[in-house]
Amino acid sequence: MSLQRAISTLAISAALALPAAASDYLSTNVRFTSDNASASTRVVFVPEDQSIAVEGWTAEQNQAVARAARIEAFTGAASQHVTLIAPEGTQADHLMLAGVGNPAELSRFNAEKLGAAIAAALKPELTDVVFDTRLIANPGVAAEISAQVAHGIDLRNYRFDRYQSEPKARPQTTYHWVTHSPQVAERHYEDYRAIAEGVFVARDITALPGSDGYPEAIVELAKQAMSDLDIELTIITPEQVKEMGMGLLESVSAGSQHGSYLLAAHYKGSDEAPIALVGKGNTFDTGGYNLKTNSSSILRMQTDKAGAGAVIGAVMALAKQQAPVNVVAIAPLSHNLISGSATLPGDVVKAGDGTLVEIANTDAEGRLILGDANWYANDVFKPRAIANIATLTGSKVGALGTGYAAMFASADDLRAAIIEAGKVTDEKVWELPLDGYPGIIDSPLADIRNIGSPGTQAGAAFLKHFAGDTPWIHIDMAADAMVSSPTGIHPAGPTGFGVRLLTEWVHQLNK
Ligand code: BES
Ligand code: MN
Ligand code: ZN
Repeated sequence: MSLQRAISTLAISAALALPAAASDYLSTNVRFTSDNASASTRVVFVPEDQSIAVEGWTAEQNQAVARAARIEAFTGAASQHVTLIAPEGTQADHLMLAGVGNPAELSRFNAEKLGAAIAAALKPELTDVVFDTRLIANPGVAAEISAQVAHGIDLRNYRFDRYQSEPKARPQTTYHWVTHSPQVAERHYEDYRAIAEGVFVARDITALPGSDGYPEAIVELAKQAMSDLDIELTIITPEQVKEMGMGLLESVSAGSQHGSYLLAAHYKGSDEAPIALVGKGNTFDTGGYNLKTNSSSILRMQTDKAGAGAVIGAVMALAKQQAPVNVVAIAPLSHNLISGSATLPGDVVKAGDGTLVEIANTDAEGRLILGDANWYANDVFKPRAIANIATLTGSKVGALGTGYAAMFASADDLRAAIIEAGKVTDEKVWELPLDGYPGIIDSPLADIRNIGSPGTQAGAAFLKHFAGDTPWIHIDMAADAMVSSPTGIHPAGPTGFGVRLLTEWVHQLNK
């Protein structure tokens, strides 16, 4: 190892301070029990219009609660929650009532959001909190809701605070879930916990600043995060990218001291042909010589690697769940910078599949790295489907904002599954058409060019070219990777968008 290389490896581990184990992401504990427990704060889940009776409390104490609930207009409607001072003599200080509406109809996402709202309302210094779901009559439903609410709490408790010299204390609380069927609840929770840990890795990848989170650093992060999972990791180095002829992927980092990598993380939980999840990992987007020239367009462009985070997180979640599926995450990793060696607008570059591409705009780099990654996916893995996910186009933000991600699909079963997954997870997708734009990426100079109009469709058409005949979907998640203030299951910062969506998509396809 050269000295330079040794220094940069040291810098990676020092700057990242990576969580060594999943438990390092959260300082909370979750326990499931059927025995009543007591703590200074008790959260009682209340179906709509049901009388509130806390086990072990006297009739007078429960009446006092009912009166307080009435005064606060608490009915048990889904997502309602109110914190009361617990009645005298109950050994509790606070009683939170949380509405679950008709429990059998409470959606997974509404339960998660309720958990997030509860997490935001609970003081981080509480050592113990009791959650009581025993007013939900159906034990199976109560178990499911317990796990989903606990998951929402975990998602909201994540912090990206490794760049703060004195981070705010994280909650150190033990959450005691009192429910009819604790083993069933715990089993559900473990599947959700796997998803949460995938989301956390995706959030970390998304948020790392551009000078620390360059391609090789993301490779190191992913390697550590996946080290105790049944995942086969392949790392294609910058030299190998060049040797294999992936000129598009190579070209995006041509102006950076950090060359392009490609990472493939394969979890083989079944003998079927794999599903390839191919996510954009442009670790910083200056635009290249088509420079992003105003501060708001270049700021936060470290989040341009969120697609890579999404696919890595999804495969980690499925591996942790030991799901009976065959999936591979493929992440092309680039650093789109400027220097004397950077690609120039108008250059022609040869892709891995031999296509000659006119780089008409160096800022349309995501499709370049994903084009070669789609080719690699087909060549090496012969997948039964390819899903692209990327912070790909500004036009997507113009068309849909952040309420929906744009979606394209070339096969009915893949389309139906992603729409359903979007509804289940509330990572919503809206399909845009691709059939009305013949010649959209034609080039007068080379075989194709990397821009066209409309912008989101041009990006999609480019990716589809390199997916070939493999059934394909593409999710343009531009502007969905980060929130500036806490929103539902997301604390302020990186969202990990796509992990929950793609994990659910793979499950839907496997049904
Ligand atoms: N990473 C950007 C897309 C983006 C924009 C993501 C805003 C998140 C928020 C992408 O690489 C890009 O620069 N796209 C250009 C393409 C254009 C030059 C053809 C765009 O959409 O403006
Ligand atoms: Mn760009
Ligand atoms: Zn970009």
